[in-house]
Amino acid sequence: MTMTDDPGDAQIPTDALIDHIRTRYHETHRRELPELIALARKVEAMHAEDIHAPHGLTKALETIVAELEAHMRAEEAEVFAAFAGDTSAVPNERLGALRDDHDAQEAALNRIAAITHGLRLPAGACRSWRRLYSGLGKLAEDLDEHRHLENHVLFPRLQEPS
Ligand SMILES: [Fe+2]
Ligand SMILES: [Fe+2]
Repeated sequence: MTMTDDPGDAQIPTDALIDHIRTRYHETHRRELPELIALARKVEAMHAEDIHAPHGLTKALETIVAELEAHMRAEEAEVFAAFAGDTSAVPNERLGALRDDHDAQEAALNRIAAITHGLRLPAGACRSWRRLYSGLGKLAEDLDEHRHLENHVLFPRLQEPS
């Protein structure tokens, strides 16, 4: 088994875990979210009169991307860099604030679920609409895995001893 098969494995060195989080999640979110926003804008505009359309989705995604970017920058500057500099602990207060951001991400995904009626496509949905909902499904999965790895694997390793 390779490291990436199970990044939650307790045996994985912390520097490799940080690399994995950065490339598999941070870089992926930065690449995929702008594409999703463009697609959401297109679908909302094309189906402005359709009651099933995800009204308000573009704005909700723009809020997510802004909050997520600030959050990932804070992780990279305070958590990833601290480890690279061999600082073994990050202040608990900072890890607590980052965990609070993770709770807010979960709430934002619930709002997306409400706006999209649980990602349920109407009969005959166009190609863009189908691509949009499949991209949103992937975003939700990626964000769940990302949050889980940080909350339950990475952050516990870096917190100050109590
Ligand atoms: Fe992260
Ligand atoms: Fe995070």
